[in-house]
Amino acid sequence: MKIGVLTSGGDAPGMNAAIRAVVRTAIYHGMEAYGIHDGYKGLVEGKIVQLKRNDVGQMLNRGGTILGSSRLKEFVERPVRDKAIANLRQFGIDALVVIGGDGTYRGAMALTEMGINCIALPGTIDNDIASTEYTIGFFTALDTAVEAIDKLRDTSFSHQRCTVVEVMGRNCGDLAVFSGIACGAEIVVTKETGFDKPRILERVKNAKAMGKRHIIVVVAENITDVAQLAKEIEAYTTYETRATVLGHIQRGGTPSSFDRVLASKMGSFAVELLRQGLGGKAVYSRGIEIDYCDINDALSRVRNTTDLYGYLEKLT
Ligand code: F6P
Repeated sequence: MKIGVLTSGGDAPGMNAAIRAVVRTAIYHGMEAYGIHDGYKGLVEGKIVQLKRNDVGQMLNRGGTILGSSRLKEFVERPVRDKAIANLRQFGIDALVVIGGDGTYRGAMALTEMGINCIALPGTIDNDIASTEYTIGFFTALDTAVEAIDKLRDTSFSHQRCTVVEVMGRNCGDLAVFSGIACGAEIVVTKETGFDKPRILERVKNAKAMGKRHIIVVVAENITDVAQLAKEIEAYTTYETRATVLGHIQRGGTPSSFDRVLASKMGSFAVELLRQGLGGKAVYSRGIEIDYCDINDALSRVRNTTDLYGYLEKLT
């Protein structure tokens, strides 16, 4: 059996650990492993190379993905996927492990339906795959955000300021909520909390009236223009206010030990599923367990965030 592995969508710390686990587990079972460069784009362009055991050494601690990544919208088109299948057939590759977010999952499902068994691993800093408790890269990105917000707190305290900080997450509020809890933010704004500007202004004003020396407001991306919000806070509350967008810095860096272990377990598990002849499956974690479900099921699930937001309500 020959197995391919690719990373797709936004890169995430820990992807390299997953690649390594796929390659080493495949070789352990006497299979050949192939790395596909630059995600589905590279698959369509035939950027495929065999990976030996040593090719995936010295990378557990590296951020990003050694295979490279891309977002290929055209992969929804049948002729584009036909090219991908033809390239896989040329190398005699029977099955694929794909690591990425929901777009990656959809591509994997489509390829499985075309005869190449695919197993999808959740690799994204956003933690927006509902089937899994945590995605590969989420906790590393969270640590990066927390470190940055802690630093902002230092200067915010020194200058008696309000700091508005935007974190990533696409449409998912997890990075905002988790970093808000970890940093003791006074206000967290996500899609789930809703963006109630008058209430935010009032809360900041009250905090100032109560003698609070500084305030941290964490805002998930795609909610509002944080620079504009900072201006409005300053105008309404007289609190000097600054805005910071953390941006892509959250995607890079050395993966945390949690992400390395999670990714290693998931990568290895994915190969075991392929050995059983399974395809169209998504690997997920629940507590310390690793398991799988149908990709379609993973895509259609909706996360229950009631508990998480319950904590937030009590702690901010
Ligand atoms: O999905 C990961 C992510 O970093 C999101 O948090 C963010 O919205 C998006 O990717 C940014 O994408 P790009 O790197 O293409 O600008």
